[in-house]
Amino acid sequence: SKDPLVLFMPSGKRGRFPIGTPVLEAARKLGVYVESVCGGRATCGRCQVEVQEGNFAKHKIVSSNDHISARGPKEERYDRVRGLPEGRRLSCSAEILGDLVIDVPQDTVVNAQVVRKAATDRVIERNAAVQLCYVEVEEPDMHKPLGDLDRLKAVLEKDWGWKDLLIAPHLIPQVQSILRKGNWGVTAAIHRDMDSSRPFIVGLWPDLKNEAYGIACDIGSTTIAMHLVSLLSGRIVGSSGTSNPQIRFGEDLMSRVSYVMMNPDGREAMTKAVREALNGLIGKVCEEGGVHREDILDMVFVANPIMHHLFLGIDPTELGQAPFALAVSGALQYWAHEIDIDVNRGTRVYMLPCIAGHVGADAAGATLSEGPYRQDKMMLLVDVGTNAEIILGNRERVVAASSPTGPAFEGAEISSGQRAAPGAIERIRIDPVTLEPKFRVIGVDLWSDEEGFEEAAASVGVTGICGSAIIEVVAEMYLSGIISEDGVVDGSLAERSHRIIPNGRTFSYLLRGDGEQRITVTQNDVRAIQLAKAALYAGIKLLMEKQGVEKVDAIRFAGAFGSFIDPKYAMVLGLIPDCDLSEVKAVGNAAGTGALMALLNRGHRREIEQMVKKIEKIETALEGNFQQLFIDAMALPNKVDPFPELAK
Ligand code: FES
Repeated sequence: SKDPLVLFMPSGKRGRFPIGTPVLEAARKLGVYVESVCGGRATCGRCQVEVQEGNFAKHKIVSSNDHISARGPKEERYDRVRGLPEGRRLSCSAEILGDLVIDVPQDTVVNAQVVRKAATDRVIERNAAVQLCYVEVEEPDMHKPLGDLDRLKAVLEKDWGWKDLLIAPHLIPQVQSILRKGNWGVTAAIHRDMDSSRPFIVGLWPDLKNEAYGIACDIGSTTIAMHLVSLLSGRIVGSSGTSNPQIRFGEDLMSRVSYVMMNPDGREAMTKAVREALNGLIGKVCEEGGVHREDILDMVFVANPIMHHLFLGIDPTELGQAPFALAVSGALQYWAHEIDIDVNRGTRVYMLPCIAGHVGADAAGATLSEGPYRQDKMMLLVDVGTNAEIILGNRERVVAASSPTGPAFEGAEISSGQRAAPGAIERIRIDPVTLEPKFRVIGVDLWSDEEGFEEAAASVGVTGICGSAIIEVVAEMYLSGIISEDGVVDGSLAERSHRIIPNGRTFSYLLRGDGEQRITVTQNDVRAIQLAKAALYAGIKLLMEKQGVEKVDAIRFAGAFGSFIDPKYAMVLGLIPDCDLSEVKAVGNAAGTGALMALLNRGHRREIEQMVKKIEKIETALEGNFQQLFIDAMALPNKVDPFPELAK
């Protein structure tokens, strides 16, 4: 009769194996990634799996606990000493006796908890670049001249299959003492994703070392966000953010480029500032996770092109002017210490590739995360900041562009605009009959027309309007007839509402307060939003024309801005094209999620490297019809394009 059939979940890989084959060995043969540090000695506990009982009709596999060997003495011992969670088995010890369905637990679940509209939870399959390998090295012998390091390499090849091993030079002088300290049992960290493609010993410890960590980091122009992750379990053990200290050299990207151009030491100062901030943030996530920074063995970064260059010590001047030449667009690798990152001496840094001069490694990270190229539907991915990065595509073809939206969406250039912080208005409704507003304020859990609002608001105050609410208020002003489709505040309404107040030759809408404390939306504010949204929409439209589509199937908003705006209002204003509203989603820091994916699975590095080469970059400035698209998009929602979904 046939050998037992084994199915691994969640990968779905399956195969037949002779009775008595260890589950770990079957996984290896099928290319299913199961962690192992001790090399099957039942001491590291990293190879845990679960048997799924039941009848998997589709695969004709009836799995039961009788189809796997009972715990042997080694596994019993591990359970006594370290504890094995209910239902878990050590796959190096458990043997196949019959048909099985084996679940490989995947602990990395990224959910954008920090943003209110959570992205869909996702599981990242693990295949980290760094692997810990425990070996027992042959003791030296007068009759054999082979050096200690050479015998270490030999056993790493014999037990783990590492051929052509290289070693980080700083470890060479330590090899002898570490081997003796561990009584010839040592754990080597092997980095198998080096530029040279040869595996590299990047760390060495006496005895069994059972933990290694990695960092995934998004260097934004305003905020730096970082995750600390166990490379062995995939668990996120610390997450933190800090503001980018380069802000003191210039609020936005272009002012930082100018700072470099004007100051001979400007580039160096900004490089130093961001690296110091990163080292500080590493300290913070390590504290949160109870991790020693020496145990960080791999790092992945994403950043926009200018942050990318400044972090790596490259002059970004060329990015400030056409043709926006990147010094380097491909993925990069460094030793962490080469770029002043204070972690283990053997830690590698991987930087995702940039897509174009304005579409950076952060956009590549977001593309990896949302994967428009993995599906049939036409997906629009937008990350709105001072520049909007726009990616549009599907399995067939992906195009990318950036569009200069300016800082209006972030609340800058808006008379009452402010950052999202306690006291900022975050939601607004306007009664179309009375033109009276009601709103919600960050830090106050009530609408402004609810009882107790004033008392609750007294502690935080009502200080301004945050970026997402500016979208909402302009959309509500349009829906209630306060502004026309051309964005003009209708002064004639002043006769029936005290909310419409003259302001020079134009009119403003009074949202709150009187005298000095007023929060108003001025004609200029409406204009600034129109300009920003027209730039975004025109960029999107250009890409839709390139793709030859009149409608997109799905829209993903990446970044903080997207997390807070209501898709309906974004569409009412014509920020985004017509789309089934249930297919418009905020995905939080997708760039950071992409970095995390590349950290935990080196296969994702190859995936995005290849994808970035295929993405077609469109330079909006060079496209003849961009100007016309921009003018059409000034109207609310648009001069020429219909929005049938809004009518539903
Ligand atoms: Fe280490 Fe199974 S591989 S316990």
